Amino acid sequence: MPSPSRLLALVALLVSANAIIPPGHQGLPHQTPDNITHPTTDNSAIVQAANQVDQKQAAPADAPPNVDVPPTSVTAIDGTITNTTIADVSASNSTFRRELGRRRNIGRFGKRQSGFEKVFDGLPAGQHDASIEGTAYLTYTVVNNATYNVKACTDWCTTVKGCVFVNLYYEFNNQLLDFVFSEKSNLKCAAYGDVHAAAEKLNFGGQQSYDQVGNETVPLTYITQSSGWALQGYVTDTPDGYDLVFGPTGGANNAPGYMGFAFLDQYDVDACAQLCNGRGADPNGGGCAYFNIWRAVVDGVPTTYTCSMYYLVADESTAVNYGQGSLVVTLSRGYARKTVLPDGGFEGYTACDDFCFTTSYSNWIGVSPAPADFDATFFFFPPYAHSGHGSALLGSAFDDDSLAGTIKPAQPLKTDAGAAYVVQCFMSSAFSGPAEEASAKVDIMWNGERVGGVSGFSEYTFVEAPVVATGSDLLSFVGGSAPAWTFIDDCKVYKA
Ligand SMILES: *[C@@H]1O[C@H](CO)[C@@H](O)[C@H](O)[C@H]1NC(C)=O
Ligand SMILES: *[C@@H]1O[C@H](CO)[C@@H](O)[C@H](O)[C@H]1NC(C)=O
Ligand SMILES: *[C@@H]1O[C@H](CO)[C@@H](O)[C@H](O)[C@H]1NC(C)=O
Ligand SMILES: *[C@@H]1O[C@H](CO)[C@@H](O)[C@H](O)[C@H]1NC(C)=O
Ligand SMILES: *[C@@H]1O[C@H](CO)[C@@H](O)[C@H](O)[C@H]1NC(C)=O
Repeated sequence: MPSPSRLLALVALLVSANAIIPPGHQGLPHQTPDNITHPTTDNSAIVQAANQVDQKQAAPADAPPNVDVPPTSVTAIDGTITNTTIADVSASNSTFRRELGRRRNIGRFGKRQSGFEKVFDGLPAGQHDASIEGTAYLTYTVVNNATYNVKACTDWCTTVKGCVFVNLYYEFNNQLLDFVFSEKSNLKCAAYGDVHAAAEKLNFGGQQSYDQVGNETVPLTYITQSSGWALQGYVTDTPDGYDLVFGPTGGANNAPGYMGFAFLDQYDVDACAQLCNGRGADPNGGGCAYFNIWRAVVDGVPTTYTCSMYYLVADESTAVNYGQGSLVVTLSRGYARKTVLPDGGFEGYTACDDFCFTTSYSNWIGVSPAPADFDATFFFFPPYAHSGHGSALLGSAFDDDSLAGTIKPAQPLKTDAGAAYVVQCFMSSAFSGPAEEASAKVDIMWNGERVGGVSGFSEYTFVEAPVVATGSDLLSFVGGSAPAWTFIDDCKVYKA
């Protein structure tokens, strides 16, 4: 004779077990997930930060020529002004350490180009002039000053990664140029990653470079004949792992799925892609899937380069933020991250328009251990999905057995051999409630090896696993043990 408390527990168990209508009979989940509201672009934070950063620079009077171009840096992140590298930002905000993708030396601008054109002239030789103090300063060199050597300067620019503009000028009374550096030339050629105008001639020199001798007045540096030359017809390359969605236009995205923004010290699409790849996942939306890069021009002057990140792919239809106040949006481009997993959201299963399911369809295959069936199924039913109407289910759809099922894409994934990827999904083991789902478990398998997974009760949760590709890769998800079911949705396989 069981004790009264055990009897109660038994009754409770029977009641709860009886209450579960399995997914195959269109049962409703234990608890329907909250409606997700997708945040949209925080334009006011971007404008506010744009008014705080100072990214303008002239070629310094006290640095040697031909210093290596420093890597692109981040000058603000989510509204906080900073000065840090892309690698540091990405590493600090990853759920696991990702190796940064190799920088391609095609870089920000392709080699296709059609020569330089003059943007502005220098003042006549006798007059004091000023050099550019502008964004995206890269490095400088000195060219032979026997003549006003424009060609040597523009030729050199084509050898500097990212250079699209040079400012050529004489700098007088610079002790280092006159006596120390081996080139013995005062004709400076400063390289920039953006085109600047005469209005940005703001560096008049005025520095004390010569040593003090007795009580003689030390002559101060000054600048003459400062002209500007811009590279025509350069092409912005698409970052590895991305597709160009739109641009360049004068509109920045005002789109849902916004994850935050960074300012870059130059218009570097690769750097923005790396920030997107390294961005920590949004708990509701998942990993970064899209970025919008654009140049902020304030009062007619290039000021910063915005990299906005989104977990939903946007397009030109929402690129409608043209600026605010004195800030104008220019050179706006959108790039979507490519997933090598076709139909990772199971939206391709459309055999009905209300409720239906299957063990396989064109994009996915469900496998049950023989002789069982329906241990791995694909549903059309919005209440089961993380987004849209499709999702996959592991565990017997009719609660006939407690065997684990396997789902896998119909074709091996076409990847770049040797490259790092990340598998991202949302998984929910919540259908039959915390007690029944306590033993839920799913393994993410990559070429037969477990690379990640989930266990225990949870509503739709973001799950990711790092992998290395072989060129043709077998991905599968194995698990479920009815009534400890797991739903899977919104899977991506991105280059990391
Ligand atoms: C969620 O959104 C749908 C459609 O907008 C609405 O019908 C439903 O009432 C919302 N549910 C909750 C819990 O807010
Ligand atoms: C940013 O940091 C680097 C390295 O520490 C430094 O060389 C550079 O001058 C800094 N830039 C600004 C604008 O503070
Ligand atoms: C060239 O530069 C050197 C070093 O600054 C300077 O001494 C010399 O006067 C310059 N020559 C001309 C022609 O400007
Ligand atoms: C320094 O200046 C004073 C007057 O201003 C002058 O008499 C003196 O000769 C100067 N000394 C040197 C070393 O030039
Ligand atoms: C890290 O990522 C989260 C989620 O996207 C974001 O809220 C946070 O601001 C990020 N922090 C940094 C330093 O990037």
